[in-house]
Amino acid sequence: MKKILLSGVKPTGRPHIGNYFGAMKQFVDLLNSGDYQCYFFIADYHALNFIQNAEEMRRNSLDLAIDYLALGLDPKRAILFKQSDVSAHTELAWIFDNIVTVPYLERAHAFKDAEAKGREVNVGTFNYPVLMAADILLYDTDVVPVGADQKQHIEYARDIAQKFNNAFGETFKLPEPLILENVATVPGIDGRKMSKSYNNTIPLFATREEIEKAVMGIVTDSSGDVPTNVYAIHKLFKTEEELKPLYDANKGKYANLKKALIEDIDAFVKPLRERRAEIAKDEKKVLEILKDGAARANAVASVKLIETKKKIGAI
Ligand code: ADP
Ligand code: TRP
Repeated sequence: MKKILLSGVKPTGRPHIGNYFGAMKQFVDLLNSGDYQCYFFIADYHALNFIQNAEEMRRNSLDLAIDYLALGLDPKRAILFKQSDVSAHTELAWIFDNIVTVPYLERAHAFKDAEAKGREVNVGTFNYPVLMAADILLYDTDVVPVGADQKQHIEYARDIAQKFNNAFGETFKLPEPLILENVATVPGIDGRKMSKSYNNTIPLFATREEIEKAVMGIVTDSSGDVPTNVYAIHKLFKTEEELKPLYDANKGKYANLKKALIEDIDAFVKPLRERRAEIAKDEKKVLEILKDGAARANAVASVKLIETKKKIGAI
């Protein structure tokens, strides 16, 4: 029996190279390893925290499915689905809501960040880790590949599994996070963490023009020979040994280094961009793939939900 791997991404806009090197690249590598039964989903109910517009949600969800396919997540080998198509996720989250406490959820980083912004936090944001635990635990997941900032959420899923098992008997498997330490946080063009919310990204499926614009906009300081932010991004595409002669020959010549970076990013992105454009031509087929994935995910999730409902006396 293969180990179970599951991960999800929120459809909150075009993925960027931080999402790719921090999380999504692992999806592809781990699927290709052949060692796992893989589930990859579109976390649209989590995205509802941020996107409250039907047209935008529909578009983003479909776009993310196209992105997944363009990256090589083959629907014949992995189960690709949309979270809201499998209602067991939200149903299990409700059950979990009754075994976690308010102070425990108040310790979540994402909640604390949202609260620190001074706005009234909605209940979905507060419950975010509970839904995420349900996503993971429904499939007896062994490993969850994610970016470093999701580590706490996996710990929450483990805690919740343990709490449920203690209260109602052995039901859920404890998942492990899979985090690539060497690319834990990809910096954006301004040197802060690359993030959709900071407007400092290089989109993963960027056009040549977008790559040029982003790279030319990378903030450089004039204090040293090596522009730190340019180098940090360059390192994702080439090894340090490959970069050494280039950076030695161009000390202080930031424009040359940026030009080289544009070429290296474009060489990497071009085939992905082309594959994506091909897949995007047949959106009907993409919707079929999601429908099929939902049926396969439902088949597994509904069995686990019935088992859980029996444990709590709902059946
Ligand atoms: P964003 O901050 O751009 O909104 P998300 O929160 O949607 O990104 O993150 C999706 C996935 O990509 C997560 O697993 C997250 O850890 C990873 N990720 C996001 N930004 C980065 C980054 N700059 N470096 C490494 N991984 C990242
Ligand atoms: N919270 C994750 C993120 O922001 C997305 C996500 C939702 C997820 N459910 C998940 C990731 C389950 C892994 C497993 O990136």
